[in-house]
Amino acid sequence: MADGTAYLYQRCHTTLQQDKSYNTYKEYITASWGNVNPKLIKKQSKKYKDLYNDVLALEGMRIYIPIEIVKHPSKNRCFIVDGNHRASIAHFLGIKIPYKEITLQEWVERNMPTNGKFSAQNGVPYQSFYIGSAITKGRREDVSTIHQLIRSEDIKGKKVLDLGCNIGSHTYMAKENGASEVWGVEKFYEMLLFAMRLNNFYEMDNVFFKEHDLNETYNHNADTIFCFSVDAHLTNKQALLNTLKQAKNCIYLECHAGKTEEDYLWMLNEFSSYEFLGCTDDGKHTETKSRRFYRIQV
Ligand SMILES: C[S@@+](CC[C@H](N)C(=O)[O-])C[C@H]1O[C@@H](n2cnc3c(N)ncnc32)[C@H](O)[C@@H]1O
Repeated sequence: MADGTAYLYQRCHTTLQQDKSYNTYKEYITASWGNVNPKLIKKQSKKYKDLYNDVLALEGMRIYIPIEIVKHPSKNRCFIVDGNHRASIAHFLGIKIPYKEITLQEWVERNMPTNGKFSAQNGVPYQSFYIGSAITKGRREDVSTIHQLIRSEDIKGKKVLDLGCNIGSHTYMAKENGASEVWGVEKFYEMLLFAMRLNNFYEMDNVFFKEHDLNETYNHNADTIFCFSVDAHLTNKQALLNTLKQAKNCIYLECHAGKTEEDYLWMLNEFSSYEFLGCTDDGKHTETKSRRFYRIQV
C-alpha cells in the first residue's frame, strides 16, 4: 500500500473517532494539494463528507464499488488510483472492499486532462513522461533529449522553476537530475492535478506545483528557470521578463517552432549574455524550422 494511503487511513481514523467535522481530512487534503485551486480542495472534502454520511446512514453501497489500483511499473507496490475515500472509510470500519487492477496506460488515458490544446489529443499527451523504465509517449518525444542540452551544474543542487510546466515532465526530470527543489507553474489546474498525481509513481520530495497565470509576474527565488515554448501563449511579455529576471543563475529558453533569433531579441537582450545550444526536435518540424534552444546568463 502506498505510504500516502496509509497516512490517509491514519488521519481518517483520527477524524472519524474524534472529530466529525472532517477538519482533519480537510487538513490532509490541503497539505497534499495545497498548491492547487482551493475550490478543488473543497470539492474533495465534500465528496468525502457525502460518502461518510452515506456510510453512517447504512446506505453506503458505493463503498462496495471496486476501487482501482495500478502497479508501479518498476517497484513492487500498488497505488490506489480511484477510491481513496472509500478505501479509507472501509479500512476504518473494518470492511473488506473489492479492487480491480488496471494498467498505468489505462489510468493515464482515462485521467489525462483533455480540454485545451496543450492537453491530450486523441489520448496522446503533449509531453512524454518517464516512470522507471516505462515511457509514455507524448506528442513531444524529445523531453529527455532536451535535458542533454542542459548543463548539470545548472541543475545539481539548484532550485529550478519550470514555467508553463504542463503535466510536469521537465519538472520531474530536473529533480531526477539532482535539483534540490523544483517548482512547476501552470495556468490550468487540471494539468497540475495530473502532474501531482504522477508523483504517486515518481515518489520525489521537493517537487511542487503552483497554479498561476504567467501574464502576472511570478515571484520566486529559483536559480535556474525553464522557459520552454511558453512565451507565445502570453500577452504580457513584461510580466514574463519580470519573472525571468528574478533567476539567480540562468534561464533555459526553448523558442516556439519556426522562430528566429531576431524574434527573441526582446528577451535575449535583457540579460548579460546568451548562448545558442542547438534546436530541439519536436518530431514534426525540419531542422531549420525547429525550436531554437538557448542558455541565457542572467
Ligand atoms: C506548448 S506548451 C509547453 C509545455 C512545456 N513547457 C514543454 O515545453 O513541454 C505551453 C504550456 O504553457 C501553458 N500556458 C499557456 N498559457 C499560460 C499562462 N497564461 N500561464 C501559465 N501557463 C500557461 C500551457 O497550459 C502549456 O502547458
